[in-house]
Amino acid sequence: MKISFSQLALPKSGAIAVTVGHDRALGTFGRDLDQRTGGALSRAMEAARFTGKAEEILNVYAPTGVDAGRIVLVGTGKSGDMTALTAQNAGGAVVAALLASGETELAIAAERPDGAHLGAVEMAAELGFGAKLRSYRFDKYRTKEPKEKKPSLKKVTVLCEDPAASKKAYGALDKLADGVFLTRDLVSEPANIIYPESFAERCQDLKDLGVEVEVLDEKKMKKLGMGALLGVGQGSARPPRLVVMRWNGAPDAADKRPLAFVGKGVTFDTGGISIKPALGMEEMKWDMAGAGAVTGLMAALAGRKAKANVVGVIGLVENMPDGNAQRPGDIVTSMSGQTIEVLNTDAEGRLVLADALWYTAETFNPRFMINLATLTGAIIVSLGNEHAGIFSNSDELADRLTATGKKTGELVWRMPLSPAYDKDIDSEAADMKNIGSPGKAGSIIGAQFLQRFVKDVPWVHIDIAGTAWSKADKGTVPKGATGFGVRLLDRMVAEHYEG
Ligand code: BES
Ligand code: MN
Ligand code: ZN
Repeated sequence: MKISFSQLALPKSGAIAVTVGHDRALGTFGRDLDQRTGGALSRAMEAARFTGKAEEILNVYAPTGVDAGRIVLVGTGKSGDMTALTAQNAGGAVVAALLASGETELAIAAERPDGAHLGAVEMAAELGFGAKLRSYRFDKYRTKEPKEKKPSLKKVTVLCEDPAASKKAYGALDKLADGVFLTRDLVSEPANIIYPESFAERCQDLKDLGVEVEVLDEKKMKKLGMGALLGVGQGSARPPRLVVMRWNGAPDAADKRPLAFVGKGVTFDTGGISIKPALGMEEMKWDMAGAGAVTGLMAALAGRKAKANVVGVIGLVENMPDGNAQRPGDIVTSMSGQTIEVLNTDAEGRLVLADALWYTAETFNPRFMINLATLTGAIIVSLGNEHAGIFSNSDELADRLTATGKKTGELVWRMPLSPAYDKDIDSEAADMKNIGSPGKAGSIIGAQFLQRFVKDVPWVHIDIAGTAWSKADKGTVPKGATGFGVRLLDRMVAEHYEG
C-alpha cells in the first residue's frame, strides 16, 4: 500500500474519509464537505447515531455535490484522549472499511481536533502508518478468491496542513511497517515453506539494508557445544541454523556495545516424542514468531538507519519425532556446560534459547539481551491475548518496556522471577530439568530456566505465545500473524538507546 501526503483539498477521484471528533465535531474540511453535500454528513451522523467515538466508522454512500462514490467518517474520540495510537487506529479502521470495497484510491483528511496533545503533523503521519499496517494481507496462496473479495485499495493519500513535514515524519514509520510486514510474512508461511534453511535464506535479504548476516550450520554449532539446541533439531530431516544479524548504526562517540535481541525460531513444533494432540497442531507453524519478530525488527532498525549497534540472533530448528529424535529422559550438555535432563521434548523453546542466549552473551557482551519466544501455553492462561508476559532481572528494562508497550499498543505485563521456583527445575540426574510440576507456574518456570543462561547481562524474556497470532481483526492488526514485538522494541531502541 502506497501512502502519500497532500494538501487539504477535495480529491478529483476515489473515496474520501474524514476524521470526526467527539460529539460529531467536524473540522474545516469536514464542514466544507458537509455543505457541498447539502448536509449529508450531519444527517447521516444523526441517522446512524454516529458520535465520533474512536474507531467508529460511518459510510455515506453516493453523496450529491462531490464526485466521490462514498465518504467515510471515522471517529477520533475526545480530543484530550487522542494519542498516536488513536490516529493509527483511525487510519486502520478506514482501510479495513475500504480494503476490498472496490475503491482503488482513498484520501483521508486528517483534522486535528482542538485541544489534542498530538500535533497535526504527527496525527497525519500516524494515520498513514495505521492505514498501511492494516492493509496487510497474506493471500499469496489463494488463487481462487472471488474478485469482489480481493483487496482493491491501492493508494492512500493523507490530506493534511503540512504534507512535507508529515511525509518526513512518516518516513521512519514506513520502514517500521515494512519490518512488521516482514515478521507477519515469515510467521504466516507454513512450515513446508519456512524451515531453518529457508528462514536463514530469507535473512540474507537484510543485507540489502546494510545488515551483516552470518549463518551458523550444524557443524559450527556442534563445535560450539550447542547440545541443547541441536538436541531439539535432531529428530527433523531439516538441519538447524543459527542466524546472526548485525546492524552497526551507532555514531562514533556512542556506546559501541550492541543491544541484543534473541528469538525462538521453532519452525514447527510437533512436541517431538512428547507429541502434541492433533487438534490445533497446525498453529505450531508460528512457533518461530520470536525469530520472526527479531528479523522484522532488524529490518526496521536498518531500514530507518537507527543510530545504535544492534545484534539479532535467532535459533532455528524443527521439533519433529523421527527415529533419531531425542527421547524424554535424555540428558544434553548446553554450550554453557550446564547439563539438562529433557523430561518433556515439547518444552523445546527453552532448550533452543539456552544456547542462543549463552552464545549471544558470550560473543557480543551486549548492553542488554531481550529474547522473544512463543514459550508457553501457560502465558495464555495468565494473560490471554491482550498482554505479552515479561520476565526480567532488570527493573529498568522492565519499566521501559512496560511504558513503551502502552505507547505502541503492544502491551506487556511483568511477571515474577524468584529463586524460590528453582527447586522445581532441580534434577536428580543433571544440573536441571526442562520442566517443572504440571499445572504450576509454567511460564515462570520457563523464564527461570532461561535465566540460567544469561550470565549477568540485563535481560528480558518476552513470552509472546498469546500475542503473536490473532484470531480477530483489531485496530491496525488484521487477523493472523500480528508482528508483535517489532513496534515495541523499535520504539524502545529509539527512545532510550539512540543518541
Ligand atoms: N510452542 C509451545 C508453546 C505454545 C503453546 C505456543 C500454545 C503458542 C500456543 C511450547 O514449545 C510448548 O509446547 N510449551 C509447553 C511447555 C510444557 C511442556 C512445559 C506448553 O506450554 O504446554
Ligand atoms: Mn513445544
Ligand atoms: Zn514450542
